Amino acid sequence: MNSLAFWVRTAAAAAGIALLSLSAAVGAQEKTVWDGVYTEEQAVRGETTYEQECATCHLADLLGDGIAPALTGAAFDFRWSDLSVGDMFVAIRATMPQGAPASLSPNGYADIVAYMLKRNDFPAGDMELPSEEADLNMITITSAAP
Ligand code: HEC
Repeated sequence: MNSLAFWVRTAAAAAGIALLSLSAAVGAQEKTVWDGVYTEEQAVRGETTYEQECATCHLADLLGDGIAPALTGAAFDFRWSDLSVGDMFVAIRATMPQGAPASLSPNGYADIVAYMLKRNDFPAGDMELPSEEADLNMITITSAAP
């Protein structure tokens, strides 16, 4: 093999390795709601806050009172599928509780979102759901189990 062919092959191999490690790094950050993105403990905290701040309208079973919509099941899928947890977090913080939007702490909203994920049967994991939008934007909502 002449030396040019050798370098072309070596460079191609190196580029391949670089691409592989790049996709591994990207893959490590992008997640879905099936990847255990909240903890059980956090969802329990979220339930308490939900009962204080949200349940008067959305009810304890999250099915809504007919005016306030259901936050689980088909209504949840229809509204949030293919959006990110960040989109949902921002929409909730900007409008809820109705009459007092953005009145909870960022962690308070994150806990409620964790509780909503739990009630929609997405699994808990080892890491708490963060309250930073940039992190939440990396988590896709999808009803299709992997
Ligand atoms: C006083 C009644 C009331 C309270 C309290 C309340 N909501 Fe709502 N919520 C509504 C109504 C009415 C709607 C539908 C109209 C709208 O979207 O503004 C709604 C809509 C929503 C939606 C759908 C928003 C969208 O963009 O599709 C979500 C999610 C939601 N509420 C979550 C919450 C959470 C979480 C809390 C507690 C932090 C809460 N709500 C507290 C009445 C309420």
